[in-house]
Amino acid sequence: MLYPMSELLSRALKERYCIIAPSIRDESCMRAAIEAAEELNSPMILNCMFPSWDYDWDQGDSEAIRFQVALAREYALRTHIPVAINRDHTPTFEGCMQAIAAGVTSVMIDCSTLPFAENVQHVKEVVIAAHAAGVSVEAELGHVGIGDVQDHSETTNDKDFELEANSVLTDPAELHEFIQLTGADCVAVSIGNAHGPYAKKIIPHIDFDRLSALRKAAPETPLVLHGGSGTGDENIAKAAKMGICKINVGTDVEAGAWKAIVEIYQAKGRVTNPFSVARKGYKAEIIRQIKLLGSENKAW
Ligand code: 13P
Repeated sequence: MLYPMSELLSRALKERYCIIAPSIRDESCMRAAIEAAEELNSPMILNCMFPSWDYDWDQGDSEAIRFQVALAREYALRTHIPVAINRDHTPTFEGCMQAIAAGVTSVMIDCSTLPFAENVQHVKEVVIAAHAAGVSVEAELGHVGIGDVQDHSETTNDKDFELEANSVLTDPAELHEFIQLTGADCVAVSIGNAHGPYAKKIIPHIDFDRLSALRKAAPETPLVLHGGSGTGDENIAKAAKMGICKINVGTDVEAGAWKAIVEIYQAKGRVTNPFSVARKGYKAEIIRQIKLLGSENKAW
């Protein structure tokens, strides 16, 4: 069943659990995520990143996104599990509208590197249009940067790493005003988390005092943690209990996929069905994290 993301997150906030939003690049990721959610009876958020397939179609990016979202909708509509489809990190109004036209049930308008007033203005415009279409809006306040700054272009071929490197922690006083001014349904916060692997694989210090202050400043707004990978099992389980309602996880689930292939290759010297092996590894990591985040058996 397909839902606006706000419906999934408001239930999560009320019951203090967190829903994983794995990075979705292609059909294997979608299938793995839905299978994992069905097995554990958990709600699921398909977090659509720029698709992994190389499109050379006339309409370029917009056609690639349309195709990706059409597939995601098909998976969501065929399962009994509650599913939201979010378009991740979109810096422009046009990009958000493109995703809405493609059929997502949530967009993330990311203007987090702009000054406060400009971020507010962009989010406000997207909220008006998205809400008219019944679509939820995620925004970001403060900025979640990259943990280990290096060139990812070879492995990702993508635009998601246009993110700025330096994090700016989210200010609780600003959060309250931001929500009042924008009407955003949920807000991604910066509390020591970062995208991608952390430098030297160090578990980051998560500022739980700040999370607590953010929670108090916005008691009715679900908060989101980006850069869930490598953040430490204890940290993410604690964040889930403290009102982080959605956690974006890319690097760790992707590692689940490649590690599954490497393991079989090392044992047998060949991998006969690599795509299926990768999907199972990706799914196993989602299952592990659903258990940590407390969303097992929370489907309705
Ligand atoms: P990680 O790859 O660090 O888990 O980050 C994913 C993410 O936040 C996507 O928005």
